[in-house]
Amino acid sequence: MGITVYVTRDFEHMSEIAAGIVIKKIIETHKGKDEAVLGLATGSSPTGVYKHLAQAANNGQFDSGRIRSFNLDEYVGLPGDNVQQRVIHPESYAYFMIQEFFGLLKHKFIETRLPYGALIDQKTLIRELRENREDWTFKGTDAGKSIVIKAKPLSAYLAWIRKDVLDGYARKIKAAGGIDLQIIGVGGRGHVAFHESGIPFQGSAVMLVKLDDDTIANAVRDGHFPTTGDSPNYAVSMGAELVYQARTVLLLANGERKVESVTRSLLGDVTPEVPISYGQRYAAKGGNLIYVLDRIAGRELMANKGQLKKRSVTLKVMPDH
Ligand code: GLP
Repeated sequence: MGITVYVTRDFEHMSEIAAGIVIKKIIETHKGKDEAVLGLATGSSPTGVYKHLAQAANNGQFDSGRIRSFNLDEYVGLPGDNVQQRVIHPESYAYFMIQEFFGLLKHKFIETRLPYGALIDQKTLIRELRENREDWTFKGTDAGKSIVIKAKPLSAYLAWIRKDVLDGYARKIKAAGGIDLQIIGVGGRGHVAFHESGIPFQGSAVMLVKLDDDTIANAVRDGHFPTTGDSPNYAVSMGAELVYQARTVLLLANGERKVESVTRSLLGDVTPEVPISYGQRYAAKGGNLIYVLDRIAGRELMANKGQLKKRSVTLKVMPDH
């Protein structure tokens, strides 16, 4: 299906164009089967899209009662002394989704899921990792790392994380028939979900991740946590290999912070250093990859039209209106 890049005017315009694409896809999917399965992201990038989608659903443009959704990631280690406290913490991705999207829908989705990161108690996790060094290995570089728990760990806690928290989430996606359309944003160093820069692509289904210092610093810079000490250090996240199994992947990016990763992801090599570069491999294998950018994020791509053309990327610069 290839790669299409839409360059829009600003955040509002980006949100409107992207929402139009999602709505069209949902309507099309509903013609072929009862349920549409959406993959959803958190962060500031998709918030405008969610407003438009909720409005369209509430106006009857599509039936939100025939949608299932799966989110990309959830923190482990939010402040709170039990699961309930962590789930309703205002920085949990569950809370974010209710506030920014699910709560706006008159007619709720059939099912909404987020990775079960809040179930893990960070202190217990750290202790079990420390006391059972043979049970797991790090995969990745100095930036972010995934913690790979081996098949038959001695620690019952780590065994439960592997089976129920990580593989359990992947099983739910599979049981739903896979994701029809996945919305993604772009994190620091071009990461997707919490597939941090440097984590290998191979075997990246649902992962337990030790967050990159850069990700933690961004979370503080964006005002999510007062200090790096308050920020969670781990997350449960879909890996690039799973994210890019969706039938369509829609990437949203706006602003200066995204320019380098977005440009490298399409004009550079496919490398785990820039996890979203995996999109090139996905498109080459027949995936439908769509970027919706604002003018700033798309600046360098627009300046390299020739190279994009050589790589069979369709560039659509949207007119002002
Ligand atoms: C975090 C999330 C990503 C998200 C990224 C960008 O790292 N785990 O899923 O894409 O932030 O957030 P924003 O859209 O606010 O720039």
